[in-house]
Amino acid sequence: MRELSLHILDLAQNSLTAGASRLDILVAIDHGRDEIVITLSDNGKGMTPDFVQRVVSPFTTTRTTRKVGLGIPMFKANAELTGGSFAIESEPGLGTTLKAVFVLSSIDRPPLGDLAATMISLVVSNPAFHFHLDYSVDGTSFVFDTKEIMGVLDGVPLDTPEVVSWMGEYLKEGMEALHGGA
Ligand SMILES: Nc1ncnc2c1ncn2[C@@H]1O[C@H](COP(=O)(O)OP(=O)(O)O)[C@@H](O)[C@H]1O
Ligand SMILES: [Mg+2]
Repeated sequence: MRELSLHILDLAQNSLTAGASRLDILVAIDHGRDEIVITLSDNGKGMTPDFVQRVVSPFTTTRTTRKVGLGIPMFKANAELTGGSFAIESEPGLGTTLKAVFVLSSIDRPPLGDLAATMISLVVSNPAFHFHLDYSVDGTSFVFDTKEIMGVLDGVPLDTPEVVSWMGEYLKEGMEALHGGA
């Protein structure tokens, strides 16, 4: 994956498939610590410890009838390539949390990409789903929460064109503001 946003888009798909009703996405950029931390936490069906092992290292497992994908291993590998780390916590019936730390200044770190467009594409494809994004730069957060927006809209669906373009601007401006207009 050439961009971190595309990892987020791909991994969010896992949460949707796992029957989650809520996904929390945290993107924390910290220049002092020289890292960008990405956390995805859902309330989907979760995985057993055995299954987590297989998912994290698909190449070490014997081939089964079930295809094991590469979304999680690629996310993990990309984080570790920068000198960062990856962790997964999952509990059957409760949900799953993935946490990857990327070293900000590493030449191997993929760019963030268009996170606003990623969020919009997730929301438009799943307008009733509860997405919660917390994007922070050096401790200051911008929060985008679809349940909160739904409450304000009072029945107008999130995939209404006017709402979509408003959300796009809101996301873009909210995140850009944290970078001091740069
Ligand atoms: N958030 C999640 N909740 C429950 N199961 C998950 C989650 N993420 C991944 N999985 C399980 O791990 C498998 C591997 O995920 P992934 O590496 O993204 O590859 P793929 O999605 O192509 O199968 C998924 O097929 C699914 O069974
Ligand atoms: Mg996947």
